[in-house]
Amino acid sequence: MQLAAIIVSLVLAVVGVALFGRAIAQIYRFVRLGQDVPAGTRTNDWTARTATVIREFLGHTRMNRWGVVGFAHWFVAIGFFSLVATLVNAFGQLFQADWMLPVIGHWLPYELFVEFIGTMTSLGILTLIVIRQLSHPRQPGRKSRFAGSNFGQAYFVESVILIIGLAIMTLRGLEGALAGVHHYEAAYFASYPLVLAFKGLSTGTLQNLVYLTAMIKIATSFIWMIVVSLRTDMGIAWHRFLAFPNIWFKRNADGATSLGALLPMTSGGKPIDFTDPGDDDVFGVSQVEQFSWKGLLDFSTCTECGRCQSQCPAWNTGKPLSPKLLIMALRDHAHAKAPYLLAGGGKSTEGEEKATADQLKDVPAAALAEAERPLIGTAEEGGVIDPDVLWSCTTCGACVEQCPVDIEHVDHILDMRRYQVMIESAFPSEAGTMLKNLEKKGNPWGLAKKQRLEWLKEVDFDIPVVGRDIDDLTDVEYLYWVGCAGALEDRAKKTTKAFAELL
Ligand code: HEM
Ligand code: SF4
Ligand code: SF4
Repeated sequence: MQLAAIIVSLVLAVVGVALFGRAIAQIYRFVRLGQDVPAGTRTNDWTARTATVIREFLGHTRMNRWGVVGFAHWFVAIGFFSLVATLVNAFGQLFQADWMLPVIGHWLPYELFVEFIGTMTSLGILTLIVIRQLSHPRQPGRKSRFAGSNFGQAYFVESVILIIGLAIMTLRGLEGALAGVHHYEAAYFASYPLVLAFKGLSTGTLQNLVYLTAMIKIATSFIWMIVVSLRTDMGIAWHRFLAFPNIWFKRNADGATSLGALLPMTSGGKPIDFTDPGDDDVFGVSQVEQFSWKGLLDFSTCTECGRCQSQCPAWNTGKPLSPKLLIMALRDHAHAKAPYLLAGGGKSTEGEEKATADQLKDVPAAALAEAERPLIGTAEEGGVIDPDVLWSCTTCGACVEQCPVDIEHVDHILDMRRYQVMIESAFPSEAGTMLKNLEKKGNPWGLAKKQRLEWLKEVDFDIPVVGRDIDDLTDVEYLYWVGCAGALEDRAKKTTKAFAELL
């Protein structure tokens, strides 16, 4: 038993660590495929950024808005980092069943900590499992926030944590029984029922059970590592590492949500100068590698939790857009296309291939086929994101407001819309009429310019107009900017007149 446990554990550990190292390098190269961001953004104010990460992680500030999920997840996440020592302990137990970590192994505060966090991690993951089950599939169609999420991957991640949590507690029980604990001790306050259950077993049996349980704990950990290393697009597993840089690099160093004024349109990491754009400037995003590296990091970090989806007015009114499914589609496409891009592949704005045939000769056929898919296009065109999806967004920002890992959906949607408008002149017909009217008449309804001042005649007092009655704004205390709707649209005009009267 002992020899088998040692061999299985060590082989899996060596393979796991090697593949994991390779996967980290792959993810780094993948993220670097994205465009630069303008200098001075994303990396300013290291102290505030670090404080934001610590606050959002330790306080689970965004997840805790959803009550028990945040509480349960907190213990799972804290357990993951703080219980690493129990993995080291398990390796020692493979060789000597009663081995404990030097110095801290028998130190009461450490033992209390392992008992408490081990129990809470197990209960935490059980809670998350139950919540996922209650949410799906019992809630049909769009009602579940998990609709469209990858369930196989989530079950895998959940069961790994559950097995490890139970293994930690079982090992505690076996340790207690081997140490001859025969009455309640604080050091075993949570695992004491297990100590009692194992108490009658012989020393040999207890030792074999330690080898077996230590092997299950180690094997489960490293099978997880092997699987996620082979699937670097598995956000539900990788977010436990990627969430930290993703939060650190968020738009605002002080932790404010990435909403408000639009980011300037950039090309090659620099804002485009619209008075004199460069010949090779790229407007908006029409290929996945034209997103910034923060975009590619965003896509890889999505946990598929569906908070964004559950709050999205487009999704809730039956439109084709779900911010979660959009991010997942971009992630899947970017990862599938990555081998082609990493080999030097890519298309110029004229659609010419940048790489030589020789460079692309080892690229898998699936990656080459993925590279042929248009980023924006209908299902018939093989598109990754349907234009209808993009135009369903009201830019309300609820998705960004909700996302616990600080994904910036609105910026990505708008970058794709910028390309559609500026290069393809493709937008919904309503917007076409509106833009034509704006261009010709300066208002969305296409009404004559002189009609803008008609509302002045509908009030029984005088209103001085800038440019007609007043030349210099220093002559007045307030400037009332009426805007198109306020000046031209019947219902809005009523508000304008009432407000003018108040003034
Ligand atoms: C800042 C850091 C992190 C954030 C913001 C975060 C966020 C999330 C979110 C939003 C979910 C979806 C859960 C739900 O809504 O039901 C999730 C799931 C999960 N997270 Fe994290 N996470 C973080 C770090 C970690 C860490 C360090 C671990 C370590 C184990 C972890 C393990 C898990 C697991 C196992 C799940 C799957 C639970 C399930 O879907 O049932 N997370 N995380
Ligand atoms: S900003 Fe767009 S995608 Fe996000 S919640 Fe609002 S409508 Fe949905
Ligand atoms: S984008 Fe954010 S809120 Fe939406 S599913 Fe992914 S992690 Fe959850």
